[in-house]
Amino acid sequence: MYLQKRGRILRKNAAIRSLVAETLLTPGDFMVPLFIDEGENVATPIPSMPGYCRYSLDLTLKEVKELWNMGIKSILLFVKAKDEVKDNTGQEAWNPDGLMQRSVRAIKDAVPDMVVMTDVALDPYSIYGHDGIVKDGEILNDETVEALVRMSLSHAEAGVDFVAPSDMMDGRIHAIRKAFEENGFTRTGILSYSAKYASCFYGPFRDALDSAPGFGDKKTYQMDPANRREALKEALLDVEEGADMVMVKLAMAYLDIIREVKDAVTVPVSAYHVSGEYAMIKAAAQMGWLDEDKAILESLTSIKRAGTDLIATYFAKRAVELLG
Ligand code: PBG
Repeated sequence: MYLQKRGRILRKNAAIRSLVAETLLTPGDFMVPLFIDEGENVATPIPSMPGYCRYSLDLTLKEVKELWNMGIKSILLFVKAKDEVKDNTGQEAWNPDGLMQRSVRAIKDAVPDMVVMTDVALDPYSIYGHDGIVKDGEILNDETVEALVRMSLSHAEAGVDFVAPSDMMDGRIHAIRKAFEENGFTRTGILSYSAKYASCFYGPFRDALDSAPGFGDKKTYQMDPANRREALKEALLDVEEGADMVMVKLAMAYLDIIREVKDAVTVPVSAYHVSGEYAMIKAAAQMGWLDEDKAILESLTSIKRAGTDLIATYFAKRAVELLG
């Protein structure tokens, strides 16, 4: 058989394949989501996220040191607020001595070069489990933005590198940027969850933080999975409003969105490989139906190949171990 071109030549052995590989994962690609709890020496396993724990601050500090020593450069912080501080205003979210603010200070003190990002949304502090302030069954936009600005300023004050608003309220990036400028936080960045879809795949995360919505769903603020152009609109708007980086959430069922956002903006694009995506791989592996390590690397490679500069993933540590 005569063939002018033989594609298999470039796949002949591992050495050639590595020479022509287009996508390489490195420890610098990852953001590690961390769940922080009150207390001391507390490690609470999350049943729907096997192998993942919520840690008290002392254990979180140990974990952050370990991550840094492995070459991981960024973490994304979430806190589990106690029931007694939850209300419908979110005021605990900007308590200067709140768990998030204490955590940021302690982490920046212990590992100053670690890039620390904080989730900005009211859900862990809301008696309704919603990302905003609720009135007559509605999630108020403008009042919530004011609360998010206070929350962001308190994180900036604590020394965070990037705030990461995950709430999907309109106009919050502009308002946060303006507040940072007016208050002298000219070195604090904004990673906007620009295209965050109303997804069932956040279920395990809501177990981790006990933050599931108490009524209704999040469809009046998070995006409809049916929509593509809306993601571009949201991302372009956030860049215009002052976002330093944008995010597509979630990842594997949304690789088309990642690619299109990447082509549309000139800021770095991140994606969040969320709790449900983690749980699916873990569950299939536990059943013996998937090779977990291979599934991790293939998933993360596909997310990077789609155009992601930075991937938030619960598999970061394992991926770095596997990359050796
Ligand atoms: C809170 C928030 C959520 C996630 C990140 N920030 C949950 C939600 O919007 O209900 C989900 C992360 C994950 O599932 O891993 N605004």
